[in-house]
Amino acid sequence: MKPNPGGILQISDIVGRDSLIAYLQSTIEQQSILLVAERRTGKTHVLEKFRAMAPDNWAVIKRDIGALRSAPEFVQYVMADLYPHLEAKTNFRNWLQGLGEQLGGAQIGPVKLPNFAPKRWKQILGDAIAHLDENNAIERVVFLWDELPWMLEIIAKSNPQEAMELLDTLRALRQQHAKLRMVFTGSLGLHHIVRGLKEQGYNNTPVNDMLAIEVKPLALADAAGLVARLFADNKLSAAAPELFEDTAKALDGIPFYIHHVVSALLKNSASYAQPLDWQAITAVIDHGIHSSDNPWDLQHYEERTLAYYGKQRPEALALLDVVASSSTNLSIADVIKRAKAAYPLVEQQQWIELTRLLERDHYFQRHADGELGFKFTVVKRWWVWHRGLETVQTGPAT
Ligand SMILES: Nc1ncnc2c1ncn2[C@@H]1O[C@H](COP(=O)(O)OP(=O)(O)OP(=O)(O)O)[C@@H](O)[C@H]1O
Ligand SMILES: [Mg+2]
Repeated sequence: MKPNPGGILQISDIVGRDSLIAYLQSTIEQQSILLVAERRTGKTHVLEKFRAMAPDNWAVIKRDIGALRSAPEFVQYVMADLYPHLEAKTNFRNWLQGLGEQLGGAQIGPVKLPNFAPKRWKQILGDAIAHLDENNAIERVVFLWDELPWMLEIIAKSNPQEAMELLDTLRALRQQHAKLRMVFTGSLGLHHIVRGLKEQGYNNTPVNDMLAIEVKPLALADAAGLVARLFADNKLSAAAPELFEDTAKALDGIPFYIHHVVSALLKNSASYAQPLDWQAITAVIDHGIHSSDNPWDLQHYEERTLAYYGKQRPEALALLDVVASSSTNLSIADVIKRAKAAYPLVEQQQWIELTRLLERDHYFQRHADGELGFKFTVVKRWWVWHRGLETVQTGPAT
C-alpha cells in the first residue's frame, strides 16, 4: 500500500474497524445510527467497509450528499439509488422511469429521473420506500448518507422550512418502515444544524430515535500495524521495533496523519539511506504540525470556530487557550475561572454550556475524574503553536 492521506482506499487497505463494524451491524438490526466523530478520523472509510461486509440480502446504499442543494434533488438521488432495488414486477419502477422521460429530468446512473415539483418529493419518497416492502429478496434497506449535515446547511440557508421538513420526513419514514435504516454522518456536527433551525422556530427532535456511535481513532495495535505496513510496503526500515507504536501514539492513532507522515518520509531520499529513528519521525511530525502550508489541514480547527460558536467565539477561544496551555488536565471550575478573567460579565451557565459544546465538537475530552483536557494531542500541539501560547505548569487556580 502506498500512503494516501485523504484519498479513497481500497477495501483491503482499510485497517482495523472490525469490532466497530460488527457493532454497527448488530445495532442496525434494531435502529438507525448517527455516526459521530472528529473530522478525518475515518468515518467515510468505516462506511465503505461496512458496505463491503454487509450481508447479501441487505441493500446498502452509500452516497455523499454533501453538495446537494434541495430536498427534491436529494429525493432524485435517493430514487436513482433505490431504482435497481425496486421490484421489476411492480408498476412503480416503470412509472418512475416514464415520468422522467415525459417531463425531462436528470440522468442519474441507470435512470432518468423527473425533476420533482417541490410539493411532491415527500410523497414520491414515501411511495418508493413503501415499494421496497414488496421486494422479498431484501431484508434491510440501509442508506449510508455521508455529509448529510452539509446538505442540510445548504438547504437551510435558502429554505429553512424545507430543511425542517426533510428531517421530519426522514424520521417519519424510519418510524413507518420496518426494513428501513439510515446512517447519518459527516464532518460537521448535525447538532449545529439543528441548533440553527431551532433558532428559526423548529421544535422537533429529528434524530432522537437514532443511536449515536462514535468513530474513535484506530486501536493502538491497528494504528501501529498501519505504520509498520506502510513502512514495509514502501521499503522503509525502523531503527527499533517500538518505533511503530510510538509513532501511532504521537499521532493519536489517526490514520490520516499516519499516511501523511509516511508520505513525507518518502519524499526525502535520506529516509532510505538508513533505518529511521525517533528523531527522524518527530522531525516529520513537527513539520506537519508547524508548517505554514498547513499540510494536515489543522487550520480548520480555528477557522470553524466562527461558524460553530458565532457571537460566543471569543469565549470559546479563551476556553481553548486555557486548556491548550495547561500542562495537565484541569477541573471544569478551574478552566472557567481562568477563561472568565478576560470576560467577567459572561454568566457561569454560558461558560458551562460552551465547555460542553467544545467537548461535543471533539476539542475537549472529559476524563473519568471529571477533568478536562484536549482530546487529541496533535490538535493541542498545533493550537499552542499557532496561537503562540506559553505552556503553563498548572496547579489549582487561586
Ligand atoms: N481504517 C483506515 N485504514 C487506513 N487508513 C485510513 C483508515 N481510515 C481512514 N484512513 C486514512 O484517513 C484518511 C481520511 O479518512 P476518511 O476520509 O474516511 O475520514 P473522514 O472522517 O470521513 O473525514 P472527513 O471528516 O473529512 O469526511 C483516508 O484518506 C486515509 O488516508
Ligand atoms: Mg468523510
